[in-house]
Amino acid sequence: MLVTSKQMILSAQKNGYAVGCFNTSDLELTKAIIAAAVAQQAPVMVATSEKAIQFGGIAALAALIKEEAKNASVPVALHLDHGKSIHIVKECLDAGYTSVMFDGSELFLDKNTQMTAEAAKLAHERNVPCEGELGHLGKVGVSSNQLTNPDDVLEFVQKTEVDFLALSIGSSHGVGSDEKLEIELLKKINSLTKIPLVLHGGSGVPDGDIQKAISSGICKINIDTDIRHEFTKDLREILKEHPDEQDPREILAEVMQKVQTLVEKKIKLFGSNNKT
Ligand code: 13P
Repeated sequence: MLVTSKQMILSAQKNGYAVGCFNTSDLELTKAIIAAAVAQQAPVMVATSEKAIQFGGIAALAALIKEEAKNASVPVALHLDHGKSIHIVKECLDAGYTSVMFDGSELFLDKNTQMTAEAAKLAHERNVPCEGELGHLGKVGVSSNQLTNPDDVLEFVQKTEVDFLALSIGSSHGVGSDEKLEIELLKKINSLTKIPLVLHGGSGVPDGDIQKAISSGICKINIDTDIRHEFTKDLREILKEHPDEQDPREILAEVMQKVQTLVEKKIKLFGSNNKT
């Protein structure tokens, strides 16, 4: 069923696990993510970045994900990942997204606070929760991290009225060689606020650190790169194994099965299996 992300994340926070937020940009990944959630009886968030929206088109992507969600036997939220403008937040709300993120982490703190508050207000008018980001998560090989400053947390949360807060605590977007989490920093932030905390850049973080992060207050974890890498790796292998196969559906069904297996593994790692 299609739901907002609010209740599933609050339940995760209360019961000490994390909801997986998995990125898609097409039919195959969407179906594989939702099939994994159904197989594991897990609440799940299906996310689209701005790049995915450019690739798939907002109307087509939203319609596809909402339809798959409605037919699923588990709670599914349709989430905007890293919306960088008020315009894209509005577009997603109009398209029926049930969860949004405004990412002002590249802006000065005042501007991030002001624009995130504006995005949260728009989302709340539609009863949709909004996530903000404080500190900045870099991209492997492109930009560096700016860790979240605990001194900024309370004021940011109060002024923006966001529902969930994404932190920068050592992970990066992409798969880096050393994505060790600053667990003490996370614990400190978690002791300051009751807001559910979000870990971005989940690919490349060792499983042990993921588990420590969950027990220290993280209740939503974003995974993108691992899924894209799994898809392209499997596609190459399967095409090589079956050089004469002419039906894309035969090839893609096998790839989707492998992506589903990966997502199921993540769900179990996050402890969100059997939580519907
Ligand atoms: P990864 O690509 O490192 O998994 O990060 C995903 C993410 O944080 C999406 O917002």
